[in-house]
Amino acid sequence: MAAQQSDQFKKVIAHCKEYGFIYQSSEIYDNLSAVYDYGPYGVELKNNIKQYWWKAMVQMHDNIVGLDAAIFMHPKTWKASGHVDAFNDPLIDNKDSQKRYRADVLIEEYMEKIEKKIDKEVAKAGKRFGDAFDEQQFRETNDRVLRNQQKFDEARDRLAKAMTDGDMEELKNMILEYEIACPESGSRNWTDVRQFNLMFSTQLGNIAGEEGKLYLRPETAQGIFVNFLNVQKTTRQKLPFGIAQIGKAFRNEIVARQFIFRMREFEQMEMQFFVAPGEEMKWYEYWKEARMKWHKALGTPDEKLRFHDHDNLAHYANAAVDIQFDFPFGFKELEGIHSRTDFDLSQHQELSGKKMQYFDPEKQESYVPYVVETSIGCDRMFLTVMSQALQEETVPDAKGKDSTRTVLKIHPALAPIKCAVMPLLKNREELTSKATEIFNDLRFAFSCQYDEKDAIGRRYRRQDAIGTPYCITVDFDTLEDNTVTIRDRDTLEQERIPIDQIEKIVREKVSMKQLLKD
Ligand code: GAP
Repeated sequence: MAAQQSDQFKKVIAHCKEYGFIYQSSEIYDNLSAVYDYGPYGVELKNNIKQYWWKAMVQMHDNIVGLDAAIFMHPKTWKASGHVDAFNDPLIDNKDSQKRYRADVLIEEYMEKIEKKIDKEVAKAGKRFGDAFDEQQFRETNDRVLRNQQKFDEARDRLAKAMTDGDMEELKNMILEYEIACPESGSRNWTDVRQFNLMFSTQLGNIAGEEGKLYLRPETAQGIFVNFLNVQKTTRQKLPFGIAQIGKAFRNEIVARQFIFRMREFEQMEMQFFVAPGEEMKWYEYWKEARMKWHKALGTPDEKLRFHDHDNLAHYANAAVDIQFDFPFGFKELEGIHSRTDFDLSQHQELSGKKMQYFDPEKQESYVPYVVETSIGCDRMFLTVMSQALQEETVPDAKGKDSTRTVLKIHPALAPIKCAVMPLLKNREELTSKATEIFNDLRFAFSCQYDEKDAIGRRYRRQDAIGTPYCITVDFDTLEDNTVTIRDRDTLEQERIPIDQIEKIVREKVSMKQLLKD
């Protein structure tokens, strides 16, 4: 299973490059690690993902407004938010391989191995006992499962405590006790664990030293917090209300593997929802459900998404949950929903000396609002879409024989190109001029492509590979009766429709309206 999964992951990465979705940054200089560029189809897909999020958040909510804050912020912002002191990852080096790891990730990987052992034991028993198998009873009584579960629980609790306490010595002890070896060298020759701050910094041109030290924002959220009163006053919003933002964030990640899952420069789509103190848990539950619905509307099957409560809370949160997706390398965080209390606004109030309070007209009192945040990485969402859309299928070719096709079954509303227009033959002017005429009209409505190169079957396959939901073919009948064929990417069905109906039919299927209603 694991091998199959990593195989799928390799295919996703190769497909992204081959079809112009994603390239490694600065490839001609042998790449810049964990930084990526989006190609012609990638940028279209990414823009569509952002648009789907923006419309669902801002356009569909009267009480959510948008913002585009600068990447650079006053350095005190990051002192107030806690990022200067606490935005650290525990780092450990292996002395033999000279490789650097996150200590908590090494322990988590050890825990995953135990979990897999348990699952294997349960699956084996399930096979042995067939229909009579009672999984819960087995998990509660089988010696081996119980021993492993105890090991797992103990590691989880110790890790959570060590992370909350910032206890680096305990993390090192765990790595030694659990006999965790370097995946590269196989040795257990480890350095001590030390804290590593993840913020990138740079220097203002006209101020030397610490005073002029600027950070590249590690999250977009702080741009929202410092503008909270500006936005509230200028839009005259009443609590509860939200501010949404899409923008770049930067983190000097120690472990930068897994393609666009963990990048050093990435994009976030964040929304801070300001509520009266005491109402935060109600809204936390609301946003948990709302965000899960947003994912499922894209057709992601239930079993590919799950909630995962945080074992160790970030320094600002009193409740936090991840929406995890079953990536080709397992279930991992796709989005976070955090109840951030009044931490950020109170901190900014203290460090800036400016009031960050809201006057509640009903209660006739002022207070610092509480915040519920939804935060999703745009790039992780991109990877989610690509990893479930990329499929290989056996389909009949033009002669009715079995052939394999690679198809990207992206939701039509997110597809980079909505429809391709093709003349049946390239060398017949009457066909190419008609197809060009149709294309030149449709391009006003949505992103289209005109394609006349190669045999029609190959052109269909090319469009399948970039996820184009519809192909319009102009043939000799078109010249007689003003109809074309429309081919559906997923069902492969071809229908004859009048030219003047193309726009309406395609628009209905690729519009975001239905997606937003869902
Ligand atoms: N403002 C809250 C915040 O930033 P986070 O859990 O650290 O919370 C939110 O990040 C989301 O940003 C994650 O769920 C993930 O989708 C995305 N993200 C975080 N670090 C990332 C990275 N290095 N590369 C790509 N996406 C990342």
